[in-house]
Amino acid sequence: MNTVSTLQALRAAIAQARSEGKRIAFVPTMGNLHAGHISLINHAVAQADFVVASIFVNPLQFGPNEDLDNYPRTLADDQEKLQAAGCDLLFTPTVQEMYPAGMEQHTTVSVPGVSKGLCGGSRPGHFDGVATVVCKLLNMVQPDQAMFGEKDYQQLAVIRKMVTDLSIPVRICGVPIVRDTDGLALSSRNGYLNAQERANAPALHRNMQALVAQIQSGQRDYSALFDQFKQDLQAADLRLDYVELRDALSLEPADASSQQLVLLAAAYLGTTRLIDNLIFDL
Ligand code: PAJ
Repeated sequence: MNTVSTLQALRAAIAQARSEGKRIAFVPTMGNLHAGHISLINHAVAQADFVVASIFVNPLQFGPNEDLDNYPRTLADDQEKLQAAGCDLLFTPTVQEMYPAGMEQHTTVSVPGVSKGLCGGSRPGHFDGVATVVCKLLNMVQPDQAMFGEKDYQQLAVIRKMVTDLSIPVRICGVPIVRDTDGLALSSRNGYLNAQERANAPALHRNMQALVAQIQSGQRDYSALFDQFKQDLQAADLRLDYVELRDALSLEPADASSQQLVLLAAAYLGTTRLIDNLIFDL
C-alpha cells in the first residue's frame, strides 16, 4: 500500500490505476481505525479492483468546544490495518493541502433538510463540514463508488442527497454497523471512555432494542416510551441528547406510510457523546 499526502501524488496514482482499467472504491475516514472502518474496506475490496482510503481529521466538521485537538491520531497502526485488509492507496492530506485558502475563505457545501435536527441540531455546522470535505474528497479521488457506515445514519443521508443534488458521478454504498460483542457500536470515541463508562455504554443499544420491541408489539404512546427510555439511560449514567423515530428512507419524521423505520439516539457518558441507530419494520 502506498501512502500519499498531496493532491498531485494522489491524482498520479489514481491516473495509473485508471489507465490499467481498474474500478476504484473509496473509503473516507478520520483514522484511529477499528473493525467498523475495516468492514468498509472489506466491502470496497470485494467490489472494486483498486481501493483508496483517506485519513483526514477535518477541522471544518468540529464545533469550537469539540474534540478536534484530542481526536486520536494513530497513523502507523492505521497503515498496518489498511495494508492487511487489502487497501491499495492511502491519502493523508494536511489541513493546508485540503484548505489552502484557509477555512474561513473556503467554499462550503450545505445540504438542506436532512442535515437539520438529530446530530445536526446538537452539532451546529457539523454537516456543512462533513458535506464540504466529502465533496472535495470525491472530486479528488473520483471513485466509482464510495463506502459509508450506517453507524452515522444521518451523515449517510446527507451524503446521498449531496451526491444526487450536485450530480456527483459516484455510487454511495451504505455498510451495516459493526458492534462489539456487548452490542456497543464501534467508534473511535469509545476510546475516551473510562472502565466504568465503558461498562455502562452498551445500555444505549440495549435500551434502544427494548424500545423497538415495544413499538413492534404495538405500543404507540411515544412520549411515554421515550420518557421511559430516558430514565432507563439515566439509571446507567447516560444522559440522553436525543431519541427520534424517523422514516428509514427519507429520514423525515415517521408517519403511517413509513414502511421501514429507524430509531436514532445520542447520549452522553461523562463528556463522551455516543450515537446509535436501529433500522426495523413495523
Ligand atoms: P469516521 O468517524 O472515521 O468514520 C469513517 C467511516 O466509518 C464512516 O462512513 C462511518 O460511518 C464508518 N464507521 C464508523 N464506525 C462504524 C461502525 N461501528 N460500523 C460501520 N461503519 C462505521 O465519519 C467520518 O469519519 C467523517 O465524518 C468523514 C465521512 C470521514 C468525513 O470527514
